[in-house]
Amino acid sequence: PADYIANAPQIRRAVLDRLRGQSVLSAALFDKDLLTELAKFAAYLQLKRFEVGTAMSDKIMAAAFFEPSTRTRLSFESAMLHLGGKTISVADGKTTGVAKGESMRDIGQMFNSYADVVVVRHTEQAALSEMCEYLRVPLINGGNGSDEHPTQALADWYALLKWRPEITFGRLPEEFRLNIGIIGTPGNMRTVKSFLMLALLFHENINRITIFSEMADPLGEELRELTKNSPITIGFSQSLTQNLEYLDVIYMNAIAYIGDGYRFFADAFSLSSESRIKPDTVILHPLARGVELDVSLDDTPHNLYFNQADGAVWIRQALLLAIFGRVADVVPPDMLD
Ligand code: CP
Repeated sequence: PADYIANAPQIRRAVLDRLRGQSVLSAALFDKDLLTELAKFAAYLQLKRFEVGTAMSDKIMAAAFFEPSTRTRLSFESAMLHLGGKTISVADGKTTGVAKGESMRDIGQMFNSYADVVVVRHTEQAALSEMCEYLRVPLINGGNGSDEHPTQALADWYALLKWRPEITFGRLPEEFRLNIGIIGTPGNMRTVKSFLMLALLFHENINRITIFSEMADPLGEELRELTKNSPITIGFSQSLTQNLEYLDVIYMNAIAYIGDGYRFFADAFSLSSESRIKPDTVILHPLARGVELDVSLDDTPHNLYFNQADGAVWIRQALLLAIFGRVADVVPPDMLD
């Protein structure tokens, strides 16, 4: 984190103020300026570790997860608790009125009385918009069906920006611009979709994104439209091994979540320390992993996925503070711009 903010240590409060009171439903909320400033703020928080006081002591976060989670729910809770905030949680939707047929809209109405911000994960894409019908406090999408997982993408890019601060600050010579491989189907996988949406913001320093998928149309209509005017070359391949030697970043995802056809490709789309990866290539994976990401990679320099999961606490803490307009409560005036 220190390297990341060394170039521009001042945190631009006016930029982060754009998040005040906002819901975060999609990665589309972020432009490069906002994402960069949020990452700088997260780096500041990470450097301070948990010694920034209790700016959230009057706030309650509800984490309502209608689908299993290890990292998203617990990192949000950790972020909030370390700021003196309080959390109430649904770890299993079956323990709520949903089991009796209660609608997400009505649950949203209840949260208005119980919490100041709500983080929701649901198997259904439409669940969040239904909740929004009555909800009046900010809603953070913790993963909605096959649609989006915007705060995961924030954690992904926070890890990448710390790895190569030059991606943010300035334009790299052509030979140093990134070649990114995405293993998965952005059109119907929420993590890679949100990751790809944020990748487009760094088009100055990304040369090519290759999508490795068994699907005929891995982008789908929405992402096809979004990517068509990007200067980044978007390529498609079914052969990871043939492309490994030029990839700088590999974004993997759990094969278990994907349809039957993917099993056929599981071996071809798996990586281990035996894979012919460039020495300086980094691997991202939102976790939980399946067979595609062998544990033999854990102790190699390719492993950015643990860093990615660790950084999630800081970027989510930064996001919560910005949503509540509490940036100046934790950053001293001489660090603010
Ligand atoms: N990356 C991610 O969403 O992990 P969890 O499913 O554990 O929340």
